[in-house]
Amino acid sequence: MPLIYKFFTVKNQEELSGKIYNYLKDHTDVFTKKLSWLNIDIKNLIEHIPEFEEAMKVVTDSPISFASVIYKAPGHDGGEHIDYSRAVRVLFPVKNCQGSYTKFFDLNGNSVRDVRTDVATWIEIDRKFPLKEIASVELTRPIVFDSGVPHGVFTNPLCNGPRLTITVGFVHEPRSYLDN
Ligand SMILES: [Fe+2]
Repeated sequence: MPLIYKFFTVKNQEELSGKIYNYLKDHTDVFTKKLSWLNIDIKNLIEHIPEFEEAMKVVTDSPISFASVIYKAPGHDGGEHIDYSRAVRVLFPVKNCQGSYTKFFDLNGNSVRDVRTDVATWIEIDRKFPLKEIASVELTRPIVFDSGVPHGVFTNPLCNGPRLTITVGFVHEPRSYLDN
């Protein structure tokens, strides 16, 4: 069985997270838009923080195809869904990730449907039956994960600021990274 997620190690990761946070503050409208998903200009990000691209090489040599910031306001819990792409991607901690959990679920017989809005497309779960938690990860380090497994974010209840992560997709998804 392939893994649902796997940690990977990046040198000076906390320093890198700090640089990304400053970049988001100074060069994007993440903090005014407060959208749960916001695509960012990966070329510009890499120009400012070349070591971010370097860090992704731990996972794959495939070029980055997109990067998005996931913004979860304090108190956010759940929002279980499946990503439309169902791709294997990177999730990189930026801020307030300690004590917050990304949880993964078994559909438990629920059916799913595609949802499209102006800002995003995702797969919604009908929730006729309770979802069954099958894994939970505190994002203390970056992970590679399977966005085709139902998942949701449960923020740290003690945290006053938004939980920020960057998710990164690749031209060729690094699915084999999750081989056990
Ligand atoms: Fe997702």
